[in-house]
Amino acid sequence: MNKMISLLLSLLLLFPVLASGGLSESLKNGKIVYQAYCSVCHGDKGDGQSFVRNVIKTPPLDFTHKALADQFSVERMRWAILLGKPDTAMPAWRFDLTPLQISDVITYIRKEIMGLKVVEPVSPEPAIYK
Ligand code: HEC
Repeated sequence: MNKMISLLLSLLLLFPVLASGGLSESLKNGKIVYQAYCSVCHGDKGDGQSFVRNVIKTPPLDFTHKALADQFSVERMRWAILLGKPDTAMPAWRFDLTPLQISDVITYIRKEIMGLKVVEPVSPEPAIYK
């Protein structure tokens, strides 16, 4: 009986870890979001080289540019994605993407495109609510 209880308890403790999926799950889902909604403008490689570049006034960002790594905090990226960027073609995504999809795409862009050291997925909760 005791064994049963400790087994159940350890499963319970593991649950948040298993449910969250971790970094690789976040990167996988972030890539799906990026390819579906962002690459059309920001380019497959995130360097801003896309067809759309030629037809809009402010070209989409080149996420691979080194200077961006210092300028772009997670929260700046989150708010730009939620609200869009005024006077540019960057749309607001808050009605189309869930908080988790937004945090996953930030994780993906920061790690795979900006080449930053990312050790855990970006939290779906903005820092100001914590
Ligand atoms: C219709 C074209 C378009 C699409 C689609 C698009 N973007 Fe953008 N994005 C832009 C443009 C244009 C800018 C502004 C570039 C600048 O200010 O130099 C921008 C800027 C940004 C910025 C930086 C904002 C800042 O703080 O300066 C982020 C982050 C970003 N986009 C993320 C995304 C993500 C994530 C997606 C997909 C969910 C996406 N974009 C989809 C065109 C687009």
